[in-house]
Amino acid sequence: MPTKKLDSIEHEEARHSGFEAVKLTDRVYWVGVVDWELRDFHGYQTLRGSTYNAYLILGSKPVLIDTVKAPYLTQMMARISSVIAPSKIAYIVSNHAEMDHTGSLPRTIELVQPEKVFASAQGVKAIEAHFHLGLDIEIAKNGDVLELGDIRLKTLETKMLHWPDSMFSYIEGDGVLFSNDAFGMHLASAARFTDQIDEALLYEEAAKYYANILMPFSKLVQALLAKLPSLDLDIEMIAPDHGPIWRGNLDKILHWYGTWSAQRPTKKAVVLYDTMWQSTRKLALAVAEGLAEGGADPHVLPLSGVHRSDVAMQVLDAGALAVGAPTMNNNLFPRMADVLTYLKGLRRQNLVAVAFGSYGWSGEAVKQIESYLEAMKAEILEDGFKVQYVPDAHALNQARELGRKLAARLLERIKEETE
Ligand code: FEO
Repeated sequence: MPTKKLDSIEHEEARHSGFEAVKLTDRVYWVGVVDWELRDFHGYQTLRGSTYNAYLILGSKPVLIDTVKAPYLTQMMARISSVIAPSKIAYIVSNHAEMDHTGSLPRTIELVQPEKVFASAQGVKAIEAHFHLGLDIEIAKNGDVLELGDIRLKTLETKMLHWPDSMFSYIEGDGVLFSNDAFGMHLASAARFTDQIDEALLYEEAAKYYANILMPFSKLVQALLAKLPSLDLDIEMIAPDHGPIWRGNLDKILHWYGTWSAQRPTKKAVVLYDTMWQSTRKLALAVAEGLAEGGADPHVLPLSGVHRSDVAMQVLDAGALAVGAPTMNNNLFPRMADVLTYLKGLRRQNLVAVAFGSYGWSGEAVKQIESYLEAMKAEILEDGFKVQYVPDAHALNQARELGRKLAARLLERIKEETE
């Protein structure tokens, strides 16, 4: 790192902007950013905005944990400046290389000129691959305790939560676990703590975040939850990099993560459909009727009005998935292809599924849906059901029967899981 600390115009602006830090413990402050305007996070619809949380730890050698998205450097600097001059920061710890946390890292390093910057081994490579600046970053290994003046910070490798480079850090004495993406949510709020926010809202946004960001890595989440007690950390707060900070109610989020990551079947059956001339819609509604008759709990999602990230959230705690789409120009209707591509990547496990749809002259969509369901390792109940043009009463009865069969298999699977 360079040795001479610089001041700057940006730093001066920051000092006078009015953004304040929020105290978490005697030594730990939130110095992040509330992004009220965010509506899209790499394809995930964020109707309630988000936050990018960075944390300042005061000590003989102050430490900054993570930074913020590039356009918000000044806001972070202002919050730091409300506690100490940013140039006093001696160390920066980067828990994750994704640009919502490192976008302003190069400029922060330039302004602050810390003695050292730390990241995981993969983080060091990822930061270089993003910014190509040849930054001198030290590797923090799993289980290391970084002696940072009078601050002792333990680093924990959490690969794939959310990227290969991700790690947690934990400050001894203060009991704060800096969990980066894990346990977070995209929720802009003036409240900094979860106990200041309605629980139903927390559940909804934490579930949506889990489904869209962490669901593919559910086995690793299970492993982390199993390992946490053995690490002997006295955790009083979980401070993620998005959304409010968990204090006094850690069991709640740990329990939710335990449930979501287990991916056990429930009675919930998602009926996902798109339609051109209402034919696939009629089939979808008949499938839903059959599901209800069979004892399942259908949730019908028309893609004309439901975003892919809300589909992911609904699938998170479902046990069955019925997918219907028409064929258009010998192909799957494109909006469904979008959503199934997205769902395939999110890898929800342990679903029982069926495909259906209407067609005019070829009818490839149902097979294409099934190939997505196979890739998701869903149990496909039977060959997909397709109807030429408009379903008549007989076809609608068949769709209803398909729903009943899907419900019956779902209830069997629930029973198998509990035996
Ligand atoms: Fe919040 Fe994976 O970045």
